[in-house]
Amino acid sequence: MFPTHRPRRLRTHPQLRRMVRETVLTTSDLIYPLFAVAGEGIAKEVKSMPGVYQLSVDKIVEEAKEVYDLGIPAIILFGIPEDKDADATGAWHDCGIVQKAATAVKAAVPDLIVVADTCLCEYTSHGHCGYLQVGDLTGRVLNDPTLELLKKTAVSQAQAGADIIAPSGMMDGFVQAIRAGLDEAGFQDTPILSYAAKYASAYYGPFRDAADSTPQFGDRRTYQMDPGNAREAIKEIDLDIAEGADMLMVKPALAYMDIIWRVKEASNLPVAAYNVSGEYSMIKAAALNGWIDEERVVMETLTGFKRAGADLILTYHAKDAARWLK
Ligand code: PBG
Ligand code: ZN
Repeated sequence: MFPTHRPRRLRTHPQLRRMVRETVLTTSDLIYPLFAVAGEGIAKEVKSMPGVYQLSVDKIVEEAKEVYDLGIPAIILFGIPEDKDADATGAWHDCGIVQKAATAVKAAVPDLIVVADTCLCEYTSHGHCGYLQVGDLTGRVLNDPTLELLKKTAVSQAQAGADIIAPSGMMDGFVQAIRAGLDEAGFQDTPILSYAAKYASAYYGPFRDAADSTPQFGDRRTYQMDPGNAREAIKEIDLDIAEGADMLMVKPALAYMDIIWRVKEASNLPVAAYNVSGEYSMIKAAALNGWIDEERVVMETLTGFKRAGADLILTYHAKDAARWLK
């Protein structure tokens, strides 16, 4: 008995395979993360992230031009401030490093979309994403007082030229607070990309090197999600949608493909997946050892995120992927 259905018929020629391909990654899907530091002429490679650098604003501008020329539509900015304090002053100050970088990039490359990561952990002396009770050593961030700082941060980022505000601190009600703040300040048209389902993940390890944001004590498990939970991600996105989010993010991506899928099914908003630092570093390390084919593994991984439902992918591989897609 021979099989009547022969799926292999459609795999016999590269052109035929191309014709029936269901998911195609494009450069338009990509958002490239950048880390801004004070100073001039600085490009300091992050030890645990080969190919990723902390860049001074002049270098960020050069990088932004390159990213734009590669056809990547957007960057997301993180900041490493000179000073950290209990009020995260560097996050919301007019002269903050992300504010400076956003203004400089928009002046040099007006058509590149600038996303600002809106959180406090890079700017607080203790490295947590919000205010702590005086004397707290567990990292149980005070939710509502933190909202005021996030609102201030978002408004100053929008004033500096950021096109999209991306709150990442997992505070309850942060989308509503930021929406109100932006509206009051005249930024009704500035969209919010909410890190809606963000898990307490060990995959953020290299990022904390890059952004110098490792909590000095405790961990983020009282505000980021438990890796075992999936239905809770839907609760999180439902709240963010009700509060006015324009786009939703799932983070990390690789170990959370099911969450990307569920979020896509459960909402009608664009879904972004954050291919985080640890995911990047694992591929990079294996590639540098000659153990895997970097281009094929990266493209397969990014295509997988898209197949799972991601409309947008934040990834440190963005520039390489854009080159391979040319
Ligand atoms: C913090 C923040 C984190 C990332 C982006 N913003 C992680 C954290 O909780 O420390 C992670 C990004 C990455 O790992 O690439 N609000
Ligand atoms: Zn944070």
